[in-house]
Order: sequence, then structure tokens, then C-alpha cells
Amino acid sequence: MENKKIIIAIDGYSSSGKSTMARRLASEIGYRYIDSGAMYRAVTLYAMRNGLITPDGTVDKEHLVNALKNIAIDFKVDDGKQLTTLNGEVVESEIRSMDVSNLVSIIAAIPEVRHDLVAKQQALGNSKGIVMDGRDIGTTVFPDAEMKIFVDASPETRAIRRYRELTEKGQSTTFEEVLANVVKRDHLDRTREESPLKCADDAIKIDNSNMTPDEQNKLLMDIFRKITC
Ligand code: DC
Repeated sequence: MENKKIIIAIDGYSSSGKSTMARRLASEIGYRYIDSGAMYRAVTLYAMRNGLITPDGTVDKEHLVNALKNIAIDFKVDDGKQLTTLNGEVVESEIRSMDVSNLVSIIAAIPEVRHDLVAKQQALGNSKGIVMDGRDIGTTVFPDAEMKIFVDASPETRAIRRYRELTEKGQSTTFEEVLANVVKRDHLDRTREESPLKCADDAIKIDNSNMTPDEQNKLLMDIFRKITC
């Protein structure tokens, strides 16, 4: 298809549908898709399993920072699905649990964790041809990305989507719990000192509250073609 390979940064609020948009775009244009949130979730799961964070969110920061060198996060594709691995173990379903969701913003606010993961994300984008989604991809990870998108939707719309996703996977939760988690994460992501969630000045903003997946995909494909052709 197009021969000029670029970096595509898709940022936005939690459960805004950015991962679905990013994954579909990457598959249509033959790019690699990276879910940077999965990397923060994998570090959180590691911390939980190793007693480095308590259920109320108290972190043993010194030991966690020391352990970062022992945490290998990767992605493998199985039957068309991208699966996150933590030290070789597939942890795709564990990292999506409410327990991890409730603690991940605390781990993601630790500067040393961010520096480590940002360096890994930048390395993944070395040869371009990548779609990466997250919170700070267009601002910190790839400030020179050729295509930047910022996705938003109302907290209620996002909580409904997340609630459906979780219950479809058989996880037990309530809509109220999911909405509270979405609102709390928005606040923590926006107000943390290190790379807070914000729209890059040169990003294209999309509110997808009332858009179908096909409409979102068409919009992204139009933007991509304009940039690369
Ligand atoms: O996209 P997500 O909900 O899976 O992300 C999980 C958490 O990780 C979210 O609360 C914010 C954090 N995150 C981040 O700080 N920076 C990123 N680039 C991606 C995610």
C-alpha cells in the first residue's frame, strides 16, 4: 500500500475506544499495533504478585524500581489476537481485571516506571510503521509522530463500554464500580506530575461518543491517506 512508513500516536481517556480504533487501523494498513497501557498494567500485575503494592495502593517504590530490570514485557500474536506477556507468561486476561485497573494509575504515576516504559516504547518505534495507543504517546513518547489523534467520549459512555467488555469476559463487577474507576483514573492520569494525560497541540481531536466503529475507522483512514499519499 502506501510506502512512506510513519508513526501513529493515538492518545485518550481510559475506555475511550482508542485501542479498538488503533488495532483496526494497524491491521488495515499493515502496521504493528502496540498497546502501551498493557505495559503499565503488566508492571502493576508484577508489583501485585510480588507484594510490591498493597490492595490499598501503598507501593514499595524502592524494590519496584530495582525490579524493573527483571520485568520483560512483550506481545505475541495468537489466532489474530495480540497477547501481552510478562516474563514469557501470557497475562492478557489478568492485566484487564478490576484489581489491576484499580491500581494501575498509581504505578503509572511513578517517574522511574514511566522512564523505563517510555524507553521501551521508543525502541519499538525505531523502524516506524507502528500504531501506538496510550496517554502520552503524542506528547512524550513520539512528540514527532507524523499522525496524532486524541480520542474522547463522555465518562458514562466509556463506563458502559468497559462494563460490557468486562461482563462479556465473565468478570463480576457493577456499572457503578466501573464508572467510579473511570472517573478516578481520568483524574489521576490528568493530574500526575510526570507526563499527565493531555492533548498534544498538533493532535486531531475525535469525540467518538456517537460514532460507529466503521465511522471512526473511515475517519482515521482518511487522515492516514492524507498524511502518507
Ligand atoms: O489504556 P489503559 O486503560 O489500558 O491504561 C492503563 C493505565 O495506564 C491508565 O490508567 C493510564 C496508564 N497509561 C499511561 O499512564 N500512559 C500510557 N501511555 C498508557 C497508559
